[in-house]
Amino acid sequence: MYPRFSPKFLLMSLCVIASTLSTLAQPATSHTSFKPGGPWLDTDGKHIDCHGGNIIYVDSLKTYYWHGEHRGEPRGASCYSSKDLYNWKNEGVVIRKGDIEVFERPKVIYDEKYKRYVMWFHYDGKQYSVAELGVAVSSTPTGPFVVKDHYRPNGHESRDIGMYLDPETKKAYIGYAADHVNRTIRMVELSDDYLSLTTNDVDIDAHCEGPGILKRNGTFYLLTSGCTGWTPNPATYYTATDILGPYTKHGSPFVGDAGNNSFNSQPCYIFKIPGYKDAYLYMGDRWNGGGRPESQYVFLPITITPDGNMELHWYREWDLSMFTPERAKR
Ligand code: DGJ
Repeated sequence: MYPRFSPKFLLMSLCVIASTLSTLAQPATSHTSFKPGGPWLDTDGKHIDCHGGNIIYVDSLKTYYWHGEHRGEPRGASCYSSKDLYNWKNEGVVIRKGDIEVFERPKVIYDEKYKRYVMWFHYDGKQYSVAELGVAVSSTPTGPFVVKDHYRPNGHESRDIGMYLDPETKKAYIGYAADHVNRTIRMVELSDDYLSLTTNDVDIDAHCEGPGILKRNGTFYLLTSGCTGWTPNPATYYTATDILGPYTKHGSPFVGDAGNNSFNSQPCYIFKIPGYKDAYLYMGDRWNGGGRPESQYVFLPITITPDGNMELHWYREWDLSMFTPERAKR
């Protein structure tokens, strides 16, 4: 007699096996494009585990660094490095979450003046009720990052965060989903050494999460998701001529978004790609209903139309040739 399994049991088993295989090493391939939502293997042939994070370009090292949540073990933040934004080398876990109950959405900036890397992140406890910002520092992009502090910014709740370093003023800002469980987003200016906060901290009337910020021709664009946990929802964007507002609300910038769910993704950052004119990279997570190591990424170009509207269009595959190279400075 052979054991009898129900079709439902067999289907569930197949799903578990497929999900496990997707996290195991596969032959390394070289990427020459982005494939939003598709499998994305690092240079060791393993699934990239780097969620809710951001990318920086360090000019002195001629390298991109991508930091994000490492949702596998050990939990914390991972770092990947790249020369072309398509192929990423795993640089390991740069900070372990240790006793921190919830460690989410790390964002790193490079402080050129003090030659150090500052990471801000969502520091939380059970039920997301602690609602604080954490700050950690490292002398290299690949860590180790050491936690320096954690607290509520100017006394406000803080959960999802976005970050913006203004290349002209060198001032940095954190946009954070704030009071009454994300009933508002606030924007706070950091101190000059990026290690603490100023009291320049304003309320942007927006019930949202996942903030990402870009600036073009003197206008700031704040892109946010709605608040539906790990389930995707339609995004909203806001514009202002000062990063601290006041902001004007617009609709979703996702064009042809049949599922009305931001192409099944949630924003985590907007990266201005150096060397190309108006090249804004949307970084989104495809959580698939849960924050798992195997969650995927939706990276897409952001367009600002001649009328100043933000738009994202779906591409099954695309590459940087879509952008116009900036002329080298003489
Ligand atoms: C949505 C947030 O954007 C995520 O970072 C995470 O906190 C989940 N909520 C938890 O449900």
